[in-house]
Amino acid sequence: MKFSTLTEQLLGLGTGRWALHHRAVQRAREGAEIVFLSIGEPRIYTPKPIVDTAVESLRAGRTRYAIGRGEPHLLEVLADRYSKRSGRAVGTDQVTFFPGSHTALYALCQTLLEAGDHIMVPEPFYAAYEGIIRASRAELDLVQLRPDTHFHLQVEDLEAALRPESKVLLLNNPHNPTGSVLAPEVVREVADFCARHDLWLISDEAYEHHIYDGEFLSPFDISDHAARTAVIASVSKSHAMTGWRCGWAVGSPELIKHLVAVSEAMMFGAQPFLQDATAFALTHEFEELDHMIADYGRRSRLVAAALDGSEVVSCHMPEAGIFVMVDLRATGLTGEEFASRLLEEKDVATMPGESFGPSAAGHIRLSLTATDQSIETGCRRIVELAEEIAG
Ligand SMILES: Cc1ncc(COP(=O)(O)O)c(C=O)c1O
Repeated sequence: MKFSTLTEQLLGLGTGRWALHHRAVQRAREGAEIVFLSIGEPRIYTPKPIVDTAVESLRAGRTRYAIGRGEPHLLEVLADRYSKRSGRAVGTDQVTFFPGSHTALYALCQTLLEAGDHIMVPEPFYAAYEGIIRASRAELDLVQLRPDTHFHLQVEDLEAALRPESKVLLLNNPHNPTGSVLAPEVVREVADFCARHDLWLISDEAYEHHIYDGEFLSPFDISDHAARTAVIASVSKSHAMTGWRCGWAVGSPELIKHLVAVSEAMMFGAQPFLQDATAFALTHEFEELDHMIADYGRRSRLVAAALDGSEVVSCHMPEAGIFVMVDLRATGLTGEEFASRLLEEKDVATMPGESFGPSAAGHIRLSLTATDQSIETGCRRIVELAEEIAG
């Protein structure tokens, strides 16, 4: 029996990417005391009132088929949120619910791309992008994010990567895994670039609420560029709700009409009780979430302080998000070689920069969701190993 060529391709993707983390998990199972700085997941649980809302909703019988585009009261909440943010009236016909921004991106790629099209993606990038894009049969053109600009996108690099077949730019701002935030004037330049070359602009805003140093502007909020922009976002990271799979897409009525046709073909609606909880989450404040985000910023400074003074390692200070990239190029090792030795010799699990793209070679990625103690111990051992190697 034969499978599609697509699934064969997807099976081959990223198999090596998490190998080091899996090795660390295996060693921890065997009794090793591993300091885990590899995976980024909020350590706190979803705030209780959000959980209670979902439970009450289940008990109230919100368990039937939902409306494909999304439940009306949630669409109102989303429309209101993006109206306030953009300062323009955003209608409920401009938003639609998805099980996470990951699924929203999958459906958007199916909506905008097909075989023969090209999509530009700055790298390093969120590791799941590749499979999502491949599933649309489009070609992926990488745009370098350079360590010497602390991984901030440069419009000249976009121009260099442009091809006649380019149809979409996938912008992830704030950026995972580097934590860079584009200044509003750069976002305008990027949106102007898309307008000049008639590109769709998908704006992945999963980390909009994780900025601790910098100002956020979405291209959707620039009225001249709203019609070519599709926003994806979710409550996963902002509300410690990664496993709930609650996200959405925002765009022009025409774009959302096409997108809903794809989402209805994929899913036939999403769970009403989850949408009730999402609406509740988006309309209430939760102190613990503010602390969680402030903690990421504080821990990024802990990393910087722990590496300060070393001539061999340094970090790119993130302005947002839950990761920090550590530059080890002075050791002469690749990120993979260093991360592998760090695990074997110092019991610290990190992710090699190469897992996220060639521009992050010679770096490792640390997660700021770890405890302060893990971060301090992990960084101390990183400096030790780097200095042993550099001699
Ligand atoms: C940049 C980025 N986009 C999208 C996602 C997907 O998040 P979700 O599907 O949980 O909204 C993630 C998750 O880590 C991410 O880092």
